[in-house]
Amino acid sequence: MTRTLDWDEVVQAATRAPSIHNTQPWRFTAVGDRLEVRFDPQRSLPVLDPTHRQQVISCGVAVEFAVLALRSRGHDVAVDAGAQDDPDHLATVRVLGDRPGDDDERVLAAAIGARHTTRAPFLARDVPTDLLEQLQADAGGLGVWVADVSRDDAELVSVLLLERAEQAEASDPAYRAELEAWLRTDPESADGIPVDAVPVDDPAARPSNWLVRDFLVGRRTAHAAAPVADDAPPPVVERPAVLLLGTMRDDRTAWVQAGRVLGRVLLRLTAAGLAASPMTQALDWPATRARLTAELSLVGHPQMMLRLGWPSTPATTTGRRPVAEVLTTAD
Ligand SMILES: Cc1cc2nc3c(=O)[nH]c(=O)nc-3n(C[C@H](O)[C@H](O)[C@H](O)COP(=O)(O)O)c2cc1C
Repeated sequence: MTRTLDWDEVVQAATRAPSIHNTQPWRFTAVGDRLEVRFDPQRSLPVLDPTHRQQVISCGVAVEFAVLALRSRGHDVAVDAGAQDDPDHLATVRVLGDRPGDDDERVLAAAIGARHTTRAPFLARDVPTDLLEQLQADAGGLGVWVADVSRDDAELVSVLLLERAEQAEASDPAYRAELEAWLRTDPESADGIPVDAVPVDDPAARPSNWLVRDFLVGRRTAHAAAPVADDAPPPVVERPAVLLLGTMRDDRTAWVQAGRVLGRVLLRLTAAGLAASPMTQALDWPATRARLTAELSLVGHPQMMLRLGWPSTPATTTGRRPVAEVLTTAD
């Protein structure tokens, strides 16, 4: 007999998933031993993500967090992609029965509550090569590739396109208005990005090649950085690894799979004491995304650019909508 299913607990874990601008664009329906995961078009980002690609990736992370929460509680599960009749129905997580928990998945599930996006500079300490290899191995099973772009020519191309995209975004009033609509000054807010979670300093002024998204573009004077004393020590130069995740196809099923792998990657990093922040500016726009694909001779489609390293400060927790708002139970 299958153990009792506590869908509230599972959805609680699923909703700790990261999502673009913390839009949390998901809806869950529990039907007996199945959890259906849908995209919520009410929470879209028409300027930044008109195809909903990044939001579907976000839902894919939520799918994987639900899978890990179930497996760590001793349930055997399978994931079915979408439903033909409803494009917003992205995946169904089916409980097949009981299965003794796997240690690795328990470790990953235990990291769900501790994972946060870390945009602060990382320490000047290399990311271990064997960890990068493990992340690449994790991804293969779900048909997603993971490439390290923090070396040689790949770094030059990626850094250049990231800067181009960031500049284009910063000068686009529609982009800025949308970004501002998801910034939150109330740290208790249930969605959006709290100002405390984004860098106060100008990301372009950091001693790092990798430009994190500037959430305070146009508002910098209101959040001016403290002056630097003449005798202050030189800033630490971070040494992040930067990964590109990609898929062969570029449709909703591929985006869900990319999200599932992203979820595993983030949890594996958290469990190892590292942290990460997506930097998706170059993938936001078709032109820079296509150029990245061409110039790096990528096979398939880049879906996520992720900066990772050793955290120098604890990250800020972001809010989530209550489970009751996103979970419906059906007979
Ligand atoms: C598909 C996707 C794209 C994202 N893009 C960026 C980005 O370009 N820059 C950034 O700083 N954070 C990015 N994020 C991180 C979200 O802002 C973050 O997950 C959200 O604010 C919730 O915070 P948390 O991850 O700390 O829980 C992205 C997340 C996802 C899932």
